[in-house]
Amino acid sequence: MQDIDIIQRLEDKRGAARVGGGQQRIDRQHDRGKLTARERIELFLDQGSFEEWDMFVEHGCVEFGMESQKIPGDGVVTGYGTVCGRLVFVFSQDFTVFGGSLSAAHAEKICKIMDHAIKVGAPVVGLNDSGGARIQEGVEALAGYADVFQRNVLASGVIPQLSMIMGPCAGGAVYSPAMTDFIFMVKNTSYMFVTGPEVVKTVTHEEVSAEELGGAATHTGRSGVADLAFENDVEALLMLRRFLNFLPANNREKPPVWPSNDPAERIEKSLDTLIPKDQNKPYDMKELIVKVVDENDFFEIQPDYAANIIIGFGRMQGSTIGIVANQPMVLAGCLDIASARKAARFVRFCDAFNIPIVTFVDVPGFLPGTSQEYAGIIKHGAKLLYAFAEATVPKITVITRKAYGGAYDVMSSKHLRGDVNFAWPTAEIAVMGPKGAVEIIFRRESGDVDKLKQRTDEYTARFANPFVAGSRGFIDDVIMPHNTRTRICRSLAMLREKKLENPWRKHGNIPL
Ligand code: HXC
Repeated sequence: MQDIDIIQRLEDKRGAARVGGGQQRIDRQHDRGKLTARERIELFLDQGSFEEWDMFVEHGCVEFGMESQKIPGDGVVTGYGTVCGRLVFVFSQDFTVFGGSLSAAHAEKICKIMDHAIKVGAPVVGLNDSGGARIQEGVEALAGYADVFQRNVLASGVIPQLSMIMGPCAGGAVYSPAMTDFIFMVKNTSYMFVTGPEVVKTVTHEEVSAEELGGAATHTGRSGVADLAFENDVEALLMLRRFLNFLPANNREKPPVWPSNDPAERIEKSLDTLIPKDQNKPYDMKELIVKVVDENDFFEIQPDYAANIIIGFGRMQGSTIGIVANQPMVLAGCLDIASARKAARFVRFCDAFNIPIVTFVDVPGFLPGTSQEYAGIIKHGAKLLYAFAEATVPKITVITRKAYGGAYDVMSSKHLRGDVNFAWPTAEIAVMGPKGAVEIIFRRESGDVDKLKQRTDEYTARFANPFVAGSRGFIDDVIMPHNTRTRICRSLAMLREKKLENPWRKHGNIPL
């Protein structure tokens, strides 16, 4: 008899957990265009693969009448499943239960799956939709957050950690996503800020909406906090699946290899005319990237932030590569603070997770100006230099046009242990462009226009080409643009078993 009671109680509890905060709150969630925590997991994971844990966990709070308000699961659905057959741990906050707010028990559930993910070496995906610390629990909730933060740090560089912001994420709660590898957001329904519009108004007298302060457009375009924004929950979760397919499960694995029918020897004749005759004319570097990677499939990250540098994932012969490329269409492809930080973080992610880096270079230098200098371009620019220099994964560089000054060194040059460094015939590798160089070294002839032109022509003939660098071995070969894919594929194959270690240390001191 008792057995039947237990089964009945089990069913009741499961039912209560599944319905979360009740139909009314579920309807409200749907009315806002949002899915529930469980619907999101269902869509994200392979069908039928979800193994849920801790469905019966309840909070222990007895303040403010909370002892009589307990919902099994306590506002977060946790467990593991698969994405395209590969293991992933997931937590999905349930906004219908106390606004998805984080209690001590809620935090323990998240910590449990993080601990397992680290142990077995699989990514953790957080689907965030929460009003922050459970106010009724006070410091218990804060302690719970810190426990999650600590694990975020220990997991960093060990397993990929991804955050999908699908509702509110405010206050100190933002710092867990901030420490994960990538943050994605859903347009119009998600926001992130350290202090909300009310506090902002009180303290600084600024009037700003939640969307303006911390919506998806703000963080993907202005602050660079978020990596991508999606139209709605469905698109977001499907893209998250696609994204995960690029990543290895942990730092001991190589990236997954997916079947590809794109031949390594594919010739792209159109690349031979990509570079305009006028060296100051822009062209779209994305065209090169898309034409080089398998099946033209390039997953760009942060397309709307610091667009003077392009970062993202592609595949070569089925295997993931990270791509870093200057974009001549924006700020002439100059490096500035935002682009250096954007690319540096990406390079470090690739290096941590054994993803080879392919760098396409067309850079006239660092962006000049007081705003850059006052904001510390020296330290921020050094981040990218540091990241490329410490990276031990296979590094292949292709200079398409300009590689001037310090930016030449920074962009995965031979001197920073670039493994294979190619140049197109249009490459110009020099301390600076011909005009600037002549104006400095022949300043005394500045009144004589004809003489200056002659000097500029001489400088161009001598330095605006790949041969000086080639003569020193800084460039391994000058390649025809149409062969770029083939040459990169061969280089990657040659580097497959590359082994390179940096000297032992507790950790380096990157110029943060
Ligand atoms: C407990 C909470 C809650 C919270 C929301 N709820 N936030 N319960 N603790 N932090 C509950 C509400 O009481 C409500 O319960 C339900 O969730 C839905 O909330 P609504 O306000 O009705 O929803 P909405 O209008 O969409 O507003 C969402 C919201 C708002 C903007 C998130 O609820 C809000 O401002 N919440 C407080 C946010 C906050 O200040 N959090 C603490 C931040 S400090 P019922 O029963 O009515 O459905 C923090 C520190 C972290 O997080 C520190 C880490 C170091």
